[in-house]
Amino acid sequence: MHQYRVVPIEEGKDPASATARATQAKVLPVRVIQMFVLFFAACIAFSVVSIYVFKHFGVSSVVTTVASMKPSLHPPCYQEPSGLDRWIKPPSDLIHTMTDQELFWRASYVPRVKKYPFNRVPKIAFMFLTKGSLPLAPLWERFLKGNEAYYSVFVHSSPSFYADFPPSSVFFRRQIPSQVAEWGRMSMCDAERRLLANALLDIFNEWFILVSETCIPLYNFTSIYQYIKRSRYNFVGAFDDPGPFGRGRYNENMEPEVTLSMWRKGSQWFEVNRGLAINIVEDTKFYPKFEEFCRPPCYVDEHYFPTMLTIQAVNQLANRSLTWVDWSRGGAHPATLGRADITEEFFEKVRQGPTCLYNNQPSRVCYLFARKFAPSALEPLLLIAPTILGY
Ligand SMILES: *[C@@H]1O[C@H](CO)[C@@H](O)[C@H](O)[C@H]1NC(C)=O
Ligand SMILES: *[C@@H]1O[C@H](CO)[C@@H](O)[C@H](O)[C@H]1NC(C)=O
Repeated sequence: MHQYRVVPIEEGKDPASATARATQAKVLPVRVIQMFVLFFAACIAFSVVSIYVFKHFGVSSVVTTVASMKPSLHPPCYQEPSGLDRWIKPPSDLIHTMTDQELFWRASYVPRVKKYPFNRVPKIAFMFLTKGSLPLAPLWERFLKGNEAYYSVFVHSSPSFYADFPPSSVFFRRQIPSQVAEWGRMSMCDAERRLLANALLDIFNEWFILVSETCIPLYNFTSIYQYIKRSRYNFVGAFDDPGPFGRGRYNENMEPEVTLSMWRKGSQWFEVNRGLAINIVEDTKFYPKFEEFCRPPCYVDEHYFPTMLTIQAVNQLANRSLTWVDWSRGGAHPATLGRADITEEFFEKVRQGPTCLYNNQPSRVCYLFARKFAPSALEPLLLIAPTILGY
């Protein structure tokens, strides 16, 4: 009767349900004991079965049993590769949410066993550093088509630019997460490092070529691939310019990491192998010096990589760039070539320029790429390319 009085006050329920509850209270302890006995029996049964399985099949088979149940938890269309593929398959989507710091760390992974345990056909990574669109894309499409096993494409453009390439294009979904890059400033080197790091995630990429939206190839793909592959050196422009635009930009606060005798200048457009690409991406020694002490009128994209690589890998540098550019018209920027400049004679002149060293031998083939071409040059270039440029 004690409960009868309390319950309505506590739960605000009518007397009928309170009576039912009073009867239930007497039944409850019996139920609890029954449940407890059942649970206890189940525990003993489980322990006995576990001990039996471990004894007879070992721990590994129990783990395997559990692991093999796992894929059924995933949607059926997705299967994590369990073989070597997991480590060598290039990312299917270039979009990721890694910060530069995270990306550079990931990109600096290097296998210590030198021999690849699979058939690795080395690829060239063409890294397009652009402001916006790629007006000469049709030319590059023609140059690259048919060589899918030997190249990959990466595009870094202004973050606001949305590329709209059809699925058949070599540029389709090849944009990497990008940030604003300003000419002559560290943000430009950051963009180049970002391109290198994203390209390094594909283990098949062996050579990394930086080009801009105004660049064109001067030979067919096979010729360029062989030229790069057979070269003993990396094509990074690096020279010691004693004048005000060379040594004049050096700041002695960079010592001791960077000394005046190691200070170099070179073109922004380079070709490096995987080893040097990793050197650039992993660098934390020279970067702060250049970031702090090489600001306009010290144009850091002309000095950082040439100087850093001269210090770290001087014997691997060809000290010249592969990209031809026309400085003959004077001024701070090279000439931009348009429709009227595209003639057979022009390309003969560019392709058969002064001699240079290729693997320590004199060579007439010094430039594989040329810039800067205006969008108006596209039409005549497409006409001339099959006969003059070989693609
Ligand atoms: C590429 O150019 C070279 C030299 O001009 C030529 O021998 C070769 O046949 C060309 N290759 C292709 C696939 O067109
Ligand atoms: C490049 O220049 C360095 C000096 O900075 C020199 O030691 C090296 O031999 C040069 N490389 C080639 C291939 O000429």
